[in-house]
Amino acid sequence: MNEPRNDADPIPFYVAGAPRVRPRTLEVRDPATGERVAQVCQAGPEDVESALAAATAARRSLALAPVHRRKSALEHLRDGVRARAEELARTIALEAGKPITWARGEVDRAGDTFDQAVAECSRPVGELLPVDATPRSDGYLCLWRREPLGVVSLITPFNFPLNLVAHKIAPALVAGCPFVLKPALETPLSALALGELLCEAVERFELPAGTFSILPADNETAAPLVDDARVALLSFTGSATVGWQLEARATRKRVALELGGTATCIVDADADLDDVVERLVGGMFAQAGQSCISVQRVLVHRSLAVELERRLDERTRALRGGSLLDDDTFLAPVLRDRDAERIESWIGEAVQAGARVVCGGTRSGRFVAPTLLADVDPRSKVVTEEVFGPVATLEVFEDFDEAVERANSGPFGLQVGLFTRDWPRALRAFERLDVGGVVLGDVPTARADLMPYGGRGASGTGREGVHFAVQEMTEPKVLLVRRPPTN
Ligand code: SIN
Repeated sequence: MNEPRNDADPIPFYVAGAPRVRPRTLEVRDPATGERVAQVCQAGPEDVESALAAATAARRSLALAPVHRRKSALEHLRDGVRARAEELARTIALEAGKPITWARGEVDRAGDTFDQAVAECSRPVGELLPVDATPRSDGYLCLWRREPLGVVSLITPFNFPLNLVAHKIAPALVAGCPFVLKPALETPLSALALGELLCEAVERFELPAGTFSILPADNETAAPLVDDARVALLSFTGSATVGWQLEARATRKRVALELGGTATCIVDADADLDDVVERLVGGMFAQAGQSCISVQRVLVHRSLAVELERRLDERTRALRGGSLLDDDTFLAPVLRDRDAERIESWIGEAVQAGARVVCGGTRSGRFVAPTLLADVDPRSKVVTEEVFGPVATLEVFEDFDEAVERANSGPFGLQVGLFTRDWPRALRAFERLDVGGVVLGDVPTARADLMPYGGRGASGTGREGVHFAVQEMTEPKVLLVRRPPTN
């Protein structure tokens, strides 16, 4: 068990399953008010080395440990997240600037992610292959099963500081891969809360100490998580720019990248506008658009364009600000000053190029007003690059198939949302859209945690969702058996 902690003390991080205190600390601040939320010990190069050495040493024993031990650890994480739900929701709200209602939603999702991982522990992991289907293999039996790759490095972003961590550590535990996690430096608290639960689980269910380390470290210090040959897989969630840079450095290892996009939503002529407006406002502006699948481009059929614009404007202006801990608050800050400034400059650039501001367009500190732009030059950054902020563009189309082609333009391919009641059209779009996921009847921001989630092209490689992430973290191993000759 952890020692009780004085709240004034800096929060420890975890190396090889045990809390570690260091004099170097970082401050976690509420992005809405700038107030200090907590102080966290920061890991140094020697901690990264200890974590990797311990994970490497744990590799075999974790792989050979009976599955029920890892399953019990996952049950402990699930139950702990659910038991501490309100505390975790407040932590997310204050470290990530996420209104409490959305933070509670994230905690629910994280509980479910661990629950899915518990179920995953009982799935078949291999097959008996009839290799004697060809005469050449007469007399042979072939069994194969998936085995853990080895040590995995996990790097997570600030926007879902609990559930996106759960989406990496849960499959690592199912697969039997020791992991070293580097949470975003702005939002390490949720990950460290999971560290407390992991610490208890490792001790209670007799998992090797090197099973896990959680290191709030700067990028330079954490470089071995990308470069070190002891790491078998790097799993990164974050921006496309950083993700592809890491991929270029990560030699002799697998890489899974869950990156961003310019998520598009197509609203066809037969869509129910009441429903569409509600879903779009949430999809565009919840948590200040800081989701990889936040709606950035809305393509609307000409017959609905004027009315959709009017209603989105009206609904957006009614969104409520207030304390992040208030149930009715919707408006959220952007986490970093530099991003708030960048987003403002991208809006300015689009307006310079002829865009019309339907609503928003202003900024006060880290609060960028929910902004809808129309008549945007398609070469503007707000169309071609990921904004990761509360900004969306409205484009008009005449022909549904042309809208599908427009949604395919650009380097990203994460998710697209479709509002149409025409099934043949929807199926045609599903077949043609060059993305990881098509959401029919909702915004592209919809994600069920069980489903394969990830993108094509610049949006990444590999899939999350526990079952699919386990495939990334394991590889097949074959047992080919020759039957002894009988006579
Ligand atoms: C992401 O931003 O990549 C995750 C979105 C989600 O899990 O809802």
